[in-house]
Amino acid sequence: MTATLDKQNIIGQPIDRIDGRRKVAGAAPYPSDFDLPGQAHAALISSTVAAGRIARIDRTAAEAAPGVLTVLTFDNAPPLADPPPSALGSTMRRPLRDDRILHYGQHIGIVVANTRAQAVAAARLVEIGYAAEPPVLDIDDPRAEVEQNPFGMESSRGDVPAALAAADVTLDATYTIGAETNSPMGLFTTVASWQGGRLVVHDTTQFPSMVRTALAAMFGVPEQDVRVLIPFLGGGFGAGLRLWSHTVLTTLAARVLDRPVKLVLSRPQMFDSTGHRAASRQRMRLGADRDGHLVAIDHDAIAANGVGDSLPSPIVAGTPVAYACDNVATHERRAHLNIPYTGFMRAPGSVEEHFALESALDELAGRLGIDPVELRLRNYAEVNPASGKPWSSKALRDCLRVGAERFGWAGRDPSPRSTHDGDWLVGQGMAAATFEFYAQPCTVRLVVDRRGHATVRTGATDIGTGTYTIAAQITAELLGLEVDRVRVEIGDTDLPPAPQSGGSGLAGALGAAVQDAANELNARLARLDGRPGESFASLLDRHGLDELSATGHSDLPAAVSGSDVAPAGAFAAAFAEVGVDEELGLVRMRRLVSVIDGGRVFNEKTARSQAIGGAVMGIGMALLEEAAYDPNSGRVANGTFGDYLVPVNADVPDIDVTFVGTPDTFNPTGSKGLGEIGIVSIAPAIANAVHHATGTRIRDLPITLDKLL
Ligand code: MOS
Repeated sequence: MTATLDKQNIIGQPIDRIDGRRKVAGAAPYPSDFDLPGQAHAALISSTVAAGRIARIDRTAAEAAPGVLTVLTFDNAPPLADPPPSALGSTMRRPLRDDRILHYGQHIGIVVANTRAQAVAAARLVEIGYAAEPPVLDIDDPRAEVEQNPFGMESSRGDVPAALAAADVTLDATYTIGAETNSPMGLFTTVASWQGGRLVVHDTTQFPSMVRTALAAMFGVPEQDVRVLIPFLGGGFGAGLRLWSHTVLTTLAARVLDRPVKLVLSRPQMFDSTGHRAASRQRMRLGADRDGHLVAIDHDAIAANGVGDSLPSPIVAGTPVAYACDNVATHERRAHLNIPYTGFMRAPGSVEEHFALESALDELAGRLGIDPVELRLRNYAEVNPASGKPWSSKALRDCLRVGAERFGWAGRDPSPRSTHDGDWLVGQGMAAATFEFYAQPCTVRLVVDRRGHATVRTGATDIGTGTYTIAAQITAELLGLEVDRVRVEIGDTDLPPAPQSGGSGLAGALGAAVQDAANELNARLARLDGRPGESFASLLDRHGLDELSATGHSDLPAAVSGSDVAPAGAFAAAFAEVGVDEELGLVRMRRLVSVIDGGRVFNEKTARSQAIGGAVMGIGMALLEEAAYDPNSGRVANGTFGDYLVPVNADVPDIDVTFVGTPDTFNPTGSKGLGEIGIVSIAPAIANAVHHATGTRIRDLPITLDKLL
């Protein structure tokens, strides 16, 4: 008996979050809410130079300060092993490894005291002498080490130079994006304790099993003796997808002291200790015939990366499959700089890529005199242009059509500077996008009991997007239960192994694993001699069984390689209207329409929130956010929410979200992932709207007033 997802009509329903009440009542424990008996408090010692060596350390004053329990620096800390590469391909340079300084804010020690205030005060008393070197902070600095094709993602088909030379119309434009930080609300926290040889860590992470594997290796203990707990996470947007040094140092301090230790990062530390979207520059060359058919795309990207770091976050990966075009070449480089380590940030690489690609298409549309929506339709990739395989699903055409209708695109005067509203120039722009999902294998344990309840258990975490809720909905749907009969236990590595909450892959992987377990359970229930219409509670009861359980597994990556369709990610189109005050250079969002094909939507309410959240983040990227490095010290000079601007309510218009499409044919659940697609088309749509309003093309994000004046 195969359970289907559309029997009871629970899937898709916009039900409230099952954990919502606990959250608003303050009863949902986030990492910083955990306090353990006997716990001490830590503060980090951070480098105040960006490059060089530590020449001298004097811990004397700090060690003598009130309440101080230990001060650990590279020259007195017990050694650690190197961590293995994570499943997402990033490797961490272990903290306190040696005297080298690679960036400002690098954690070069940890102070533990009885109170947080004592630890913070004592950390300032540690005297560090540096042999500083001039830092390399700019991707064009000739001293920067530059890697070509660092991720092996460069690709080429056809003959791009010849096609560009023969094209009727060409475009050659360069786009830059400043560094951005993830800026989740929840300050990253680690509470580490060694309990009889077993390490228990409450840690802000989107990938608890990755933290477990890494800590086990670094501290030389078996993985099953490490437990990572993260039942609730106060946002991450990718910042929680790497192991960070504060987690390791807190764990080390707890081991040295044999006492629980808690560390909460400060907001400024969030800017240099938990990753960021690297600054980037892209050159986009397009060639088209007079009818607007693309004949050539050449996409070259360079972005920053930390010294010695290798975070795999390719920018050019999607360009070869975005549009039907016979001649496509992509090039990718990374310049290693003395900047804080980069991380994954919502739709990493893809957001940068689409800003360049979708801005360039808007410029091309202008040159050709073709409507921007029409230009995308003329180059629509009916099949995957790289493999030639049919998409597992693709409703981008519906995204464009529905978006244009809801926005009222047909009434737009194509000429720039054609529309005014009082002192404001008004502009309308659009962009299309896709984002692939990164699925990993997932295992769940499903239990039904004679009281008619089901429990689903897996080591995933809910980043705040609704994993608890959709896990309950999927389980309820498949087992024929009410949602409130399902208990969801996640956020604990003692539960069955689960992938990261990231890469837009968890919902599909988790859903498919639940499906697998439900099929097994339903089959076993069917083998008990059920009476027509009998509930499983009554069935278990009659057979004297307290409960029945099954383990389910999904392995989408294995399925990808053997697939005769091209597994599609989500698709989207965004339509933006902005007002620009020419005298002041102010840009105000007036309207935003976002249409998304994410395949099957598990919960229309949490999905909509995801889309709105992505759009808000896209507004920040387009108009506000940039982490500014001091050119001398390499310090993030604006690392507070007073200086680094994220969108607030006044910056955000009503956002009109619509879902289109049908259940995907590749993922067993029919979903394609919604965590990231919502941001991808926003910044280019806004930049294109600013051009339409003003006639000025800004190719450098964020579009701040200095660039418009
Ligand atoms: Mo995201 S960068 O998958 O949290």
